[in-house]
Amino acid sequence: MSASVDDAHVRGHIPVLYQRVLHALKPSAGGCYIDGTIGAGGHSSGILEASSPDGQVLGIDLDPRALELVHDRLAEFGDRLHLRHGSYRDLDVYADELSWKTVDGLLLDLGVSSMVLEDANRGFSFRLNGPLDMRFDPTQAITAADLVNSLPERELADLITRYGEEPHARRVAKAIVKARPLQTTHELAELITRVVKRGRRKIHPATRTFQALRIAVNDELNALEDGLERAIDRLGPGGRIAVISFHSLEDRLVKRKYKQESVDCICPEDQLVCTCDHQARLKVITKRPLRPDKFELESNPRARSAKLRIAERI
Ligand SMILES: C[S@@+](CC[C@H](N)C(=O)[O-])C[C@H]1O[C@@H](n2cnc3c(N)ncnc32)[C@H](O)[C@@H]1O
Repeated sequence: MSASVDDAHVRGHIPVLYQRVLHALKPSAGGCYIDGTIGAGGHSSGILEASSPDGQVLGIDLDPRALELVHDRLAEFGDRLHLRHGSYRDLDVYADELSWKTVDGLLLDLGVSSMVLEDANRGFSFRLNGPLDMRFDPTQAITAADLVNSLPERELADLITRYGEEPHARRVAKAIVKARPLQTTHELAELITRVVKRGRRKIHPATRTFQALRIAVNDELNALEDGLERAIDRLGPGGRIAVISFHSLEDRLVKRKYKQESVDCICPEDQLVCTCDHQARLKVITKRPLRPDKFELESNPRARSAKLRIAERI
């Protein structure tokens, strides 16, 4: 395999768990691969290098700006790279357009790209002041400000509990409703800091609420559920799926799906006779998720919560 971490660094971006992903997918000449969250194209450039001279990548992203950038950045690969603006939950539609009945490997790298996180105007970070936006796809209608300023208090509290696992969700929702309208990330972060004490883990008090809003704005967990199903359907025998998640809600969902798809029966445990007709479609390669090592964490602290789970289509 010729692609190395250095190749990715030369392109000015450090993809998370880069070598592990390439090792998992084992790209080879002639293969067809889907990168469902192509972002800045770091992983895809490695896949294209390693599958030279004729391996192909279908790169999907919700963010049109990421696609413009990656189009230029990976121009050297010419028509081996196919880009689509949309969600990986529709990967079957895009694969059909290319007449790809099956694929040899598929990657979902679910984090927010550093490029977007560091752009105050995108509203993802409570550290930078900007509009309460948080849309991966800026052409989408609903923003974080819409949710914060219009949801009834009860729904807001439920959302913050479900997607942020914030123990003080009711208090946060109450304070938001009292202070609205809220327009900026700093207005919201300061409000939360006043009502939520820093816990023992010392994460910023706004972390959980911001995570919850981001997941809700982008319908992230439903997209992941749909995307995993489509991805497993599309993998050819021996094809591998690699998913990098950044919080426990995503990781649990991936773990559960792999487990369910790796057994022949999903009937309730107390049922004596199987009636489900379910058949295993996956072999789980990573019993425990792979994590970045200390060398990666030194150069890329953002990778600290990353977990990679790999499975292979039977
Ligand atoms: C962490 S970045 C990917 C980085 C990429 N692996 C690289 O090496 O440059 C995650 C990307 O996923 C995109 N994204 C998030 N949800 C998506 C979805 N449902 N469908 C397609 N793209 C999505 C985001 O816009 C972002 O560009």
